[in-house]
Amino acid sequence: MNKNVLIAGASRGLGLCLTRKYLEEGCTVFAGAREEAAPGLQELKARYGDLLIPLRMDVSDTRSVINAAAAASDCTDHLDIIINNAGIHSDTSFLELEDTDLDDCLPVYNVNAVGPLRVVKAFLPLLLKGNSGLAANISSESGSIGTAGRIKEFDYCMSKAALNMGTKLLHNYLKDKGIRVIAVHPGWMRTDMGGQAATQDPYETACRLTELLEDVREGRNDAVFMDHNGIQFPW
Ligand SMILES: NC(=O)c1ccc[n+]([C@@H]2O[C@H](COP(=O)([O-])OP(=O)(O)OC[C@H]3O[C@@H](n4cnc5c(N)ncnc54)[C@H](OP(=O)(O)O)[C@@H]3O)[C@@H](O)[C@H]2O)c1
Repeated sequence: MNKNVLIAGASRGLGLCLTRKYLEEGCTVFAGAREEAAPGLQELKARYGDLLIPLRMDVSDTRSVINAAAAASDCTDHLDIIINNAGIHSDTSFLELEDTDLDDCLPVYNVNAVGPLRVVKAFLPLLLKGNSGLAANISSESGSIGTAGRIKEFDYCMSKAALNMGTKLLHNYLKDKGIRVIAVHPGWMRTDMGGQAATQDPYETACRLTELLEDVREGRNDAVFMDHNGIQFPW
């Protein structure tokens, strides 16, 4: 069935692959990006035309997210799926404590942890009018406190742990309104963030995730934090 899907952070990497996959399925995709004329999105726009609706949206900026939601409301009366995919690392993330700049943590928390909440808040009226509404937050195993073994990446790991808590709170709040909210670890992907040594192709991951999100929407998976295969992940 045709669905209306919002993807935050759609300009490249996993977000661009998810945009492509949903367009291939015939869905209408609202592609939120800091630069909505990003080359990858322009290529998809040339191919898929009106099915792709680029939205200028910086998830770290409340006004930008509110404006994007208003622009989406001019084009549709509902959304079925929101995917919060935008994510960043700081430049000093991979240094040990003595060398890392902890002030770098704040912008990372803003994008990775608060950004998805901004997006869900601004687009919630559209999601509530959708069909089996789902908000999927792209998290990471690095946000799991139970399995943590790293000694650095404070900014990123703490931001994803906070995103996981935000996901659980949203899940609790929205479940009685018919909305599912989940956090998904997508696996290690060959993107700008993941690097070329990573084990997964981002388009293949996008294909797996679209199937997984249907499983969740149709009630075949009731986990809240899971990996890309749908296996529940420890908080
Ligand atoms: N790659 C991995 O192995 C891996 C593993 C676990 C989890 N993840 C998560 O998966 C998601 C996608 O990662 P990726 O590997 O595709 O990363 P990526 O290639 O670095 O792409 C990141 C995307 O986020 C967007 N973005 C960053 N800040 C933004 C902002 N303020 N507002 C809107 N968009 C913003 C970027 O847009 P611009 O082009 O404007 O910068 C870009 O589209 C992230 O949440 C990441 O944490 C990735």
